[in-house]
Amino acid sequence: MALTTHKFDAVIVGGGGAGLRASLQLAQAGVKVAVLSKVFPTRSHTVAAQGGIAAALGNVAEDKWLWHMYDTIKGSDFLGDQDAIEFMCKNAAKAIIELEHFGMPFDRLDNGKIFQRPFGGMTQNFGEMPISRTCAVADRTGHAMLHTLYQRNIQANTNFFVEWFALDLIRDAEGDVLGVIALEIETGQMHIFQAKTTLIATGGAGRIFQASTNAFINTGDGLGMAARAGLPLQDMEFWQFHPTGVLHAGVLITEGVRGEGGYLVNSEGERFMERYAPHAKDLASRDVIARASATEIKEGRGVGKNKDAVYLKLDHLGEELINKRLPGIREIAKTFANVDPIHNPIPVVPTAHYMMGGIPTNLDGQVVLEGEKPVNGLYAVGECACVSVHGANRLGSNSLLDLVVFGKAAGDKMVLEIAQNKVYKPLPANAVEATLVRVNRLENATGENVAEVGDAMRKTMQTHCGVFRFPDLLATGVGEIDAVAERIQYITIKDKSQVFNTARVEALELDNLIEVAVATMHAANARAESRGAHAREDFGERDDVNWLKHSLFVKQNNTLTYKPVRLKPLTVESFEPKRRVY
Ligand code: FUM
Repeated sequence: MALTTHKFDAVIVGGGGAGLRASLQLAQAGVKVAVLSKVFPTRSHTVAAQGGIAAALGNVAEDKWLWHMYDTIKGSDFLGDQDAIEFMCKNAAKAIIELEHFGMPFDRLDNGKIFQRPFGGMTQNFGEMPISRTCAVADRTGHAMLHTLYQRNIQANTNFFVEWFALDLIRDAEGDVLGVIALEIETGQMHIFQAKTTLIATGGAGRIFQASTNAFINTGDGLGMAARAGLPLQDMEFWQFHPTGVLHAGVLITEGVRGEGGYLVNSEGERFMERYAPHAKDLASRDVIARASATEIKEGRGVGKNKDAVYLKLDHLGEELINKRLPGIREIAKTFANVDPIHNPIPVVPTAHYMMGGIPTNLDGQVVLEGEKPVNGLYAVGECACVSVHGANRLGSNSLLDLVVFGKAAGDKMVLEIAQNKVYKPLPANAVEATLVRVNRLENATGENVAEVGDAMRKTMQTHCGVFRFPDLLATGVGEIDAVAERIQYITIKDKSQVFNTARVEALELDNLIEVAVATMHAANARAESRGAHAREDFGERDDVNWLKHSLFVKQNNTLTYKPVRLKPLTVESFEPKRRVY
């Protein structure tokens, strides 16, 4: 079948913060760049980021990028690569000023400087006391950032392909990536996007779980594409559960609430974080708080009819502050929990929020193989990538920072790679074969429907791979998720006459989600220690002797290998692993 071919210097898959920061860098350099997005770019999941973006600006109290670096390494439970973390924290202030100059409407302090609020795990002077380091636009920071970047891209003449769904990477016999195959959702037609450089910026995959703060679009598309192309997925066992998702709805209630002085209470009205993290309390890192809340619920001190939540209390902050700094939270609480937080606490539960793992990259966003060898022509940035700045647990407000710092770095490197490649490498003769087989299987399949098998996947992940991980559940989880993967081979879409319908896209999204789910379960079962967000009941302690290493999962034969953590920063002394307390 002959498909229409479009040629671009750079193709970016994903129109969220990471993709748009990279595309802007490329378009401003005069490069011909296309952004493919499943949804209108400003509806990408970055829009849902609430609390802010971290940078040691020191607008509220003295701050240093080295303190931010230390906090991030400690937050990562020492699994983060220290060169990447140094690069991110050092470039943070510049990135914020740049966003401000792009027109991002940051909140202001009375003296006119950018407003900053405290966030979990962010401290002054290597853990001495909490610091206000998170720059914010009320509780809609991602929204402001995404719109700013989109407008700048329009000005720079980035080419947008809206409601296009990238299906697979095109890789030649030498392993180089030469573009993607994509589906135009409106027409159901597949096209080839031939490119000198391809960037995956598809965001997260939180939809592998039943309870998630993630949008329905967060289906791990880039990870599925990478896995099918034979590339490894790194550190997939590490998933962040945000302590404050609205009970039953999953919608995020920003950590900014606790940054502004809100706190969690159990059924006895006790501010329980005082027991779990006496120093940082409700501003400890997320893994610590999620486990504390889960423990309170497990031990019978949950709130509500079923005692299956804890309360987030913020009524004491007062109506004026809530309306000024947390207006979106008030709206969300009213809509999804039927409470007005000015008067009543919000019932919340730990909810799947962020994937620390992803497609392994170097500091330039190049996708790397074993021995850190870059894959020619392929880049990844943002939640779908693992650079790795978040290690085993990300600090809140470091994700927006990750997007812009590494989005810019990848854009710069792509400009250089494009300049070196004057001509397009020829596409392999069988470039679209496997994709056609995969897509066409839906036409003749007679198996179960998409929703049924998707539900089985989400239930398996939720039950077997949650906040706390139990050896028997992990072991049976591996068998169960592999069985779900098998069922997905035969899924069918109900009404085959509607070839452009959303069920077709949902079926193809499930192909991607299952790659993420399988990698997660296998990697979690294998890691015999507790580190960051990976909390095992049978191995309660961190084990630096045997497990201070990154996992690499490869789809073919479900193989796991490991590589060392880069403990050496770029210019400063290493932070040696030590006991992590808050
Ligand atoms: O709580 C929040 O506002 C989430 C921020 C983040 O995940 O970085």
